[in-house]
Amino acid sequence: MFTRRGFLKMLWRGGLALAAMAAYPAVEVMAWPRIATHRLTPPNWTPGLKLRIAVIADVHACEPWMSAERIRNICDRVNALEADVILLLGDYVSGMNLVTDYVHSSEWSKAMAGLSAPLGVHAVLGNHDYWEDLTFQRDQAVEPFAKAALAAVGIPVLVNESVRLEKDGHGFWLAGLGDQVALRPGRRFGRAGWQGLDDLPATLAGITDDAPVILMAHEPDIFPEVPERVSLTLSGHTHGGQINIFGWKPIVPSRYGPRYAAGHIEEAGRHLVVSKGLGCSIIPVRFMSWPEIVLLELG
Ligand SMILES: [Fe+2]
Repeated sequence: MFTRRGFLKMLWRGGLALAAMAAYPAVEVMAWPRIATHRLTPPNWTPGLKLRIAVIADVHACEPWMSAERIRNICDRVNALEADVILLLGDYVSGMNLVTDYVHSSEWSKAMAGLSAPLGVHAVLGNHDYWEDLTFQRDQAVEPFAKAALAAVGIPVLVNESVRLEKDGHGFWLAGLGDQVALRPGRRFGRAGWQGLDDLPATLAGITDDAPVILMAHEPDIFPEVPERVSLTLSGHTHGGQINIFGWKPIVPSRYGPRYAAGHIEEAGRHLVVSKGLGCSIIPVRFMSWPEIVLLELG
């Protein structure tokens, strides 16, 4: 029987369910990151080279969603993975207005200063690190503030360049691509359209031997152009779509839609790993796109 009491109970439960659904995306926004582990032997790999790599992407520092304290805690978690090398894939800077405060670059970089691995910490910048840097948007001769902040805590930033590292006597290359959509259009910046700072040939030009190459590229859209010489490409930027409704990802910021949204992707024998990252851009919502630290076990 349909009673008044039963109807009120139904309303109450429905209201609770709606409130839970409305609040749920904030749960993932503030969630403790998962460790997404990928084990693979990429092509052109050196036999005997075993490499453990921890990857952080899309920090998007801001209050209350990604405070300096939360960044510090996440970095402690990364250190506990005891990786050989730690890679940072860009977008340290907040990319939204729904914040109670911004975290200054001197603060988020200080929070990341404790990252430590035997082969060091290496970074590239992301689009938001450039977009929020109005001085750099006007004049590309100045050093981006995000790059300066990382350098100040001893973290080198690779922009269209490569560095050679060695583990157990086996060499490998880390290549860092400049950001593909770094420069915003606008009359005040003297540009009619978006411009990238990426130069893939220059990034790979400094590679002087046959050791495997790992390419860091903030946006995965470069992947179809990456030559077979590169063993593995690592990207962030997509946040896994940030909103994933049972596999439907309506807002992946990529010209390829959901093709490179997250995870390990293999195309024509070439390999790409895209991290879902840690923070949020545009709005503080994550739905079925849990924040993650990527752990690669290569070899
Ligand atoms: Fe990004």
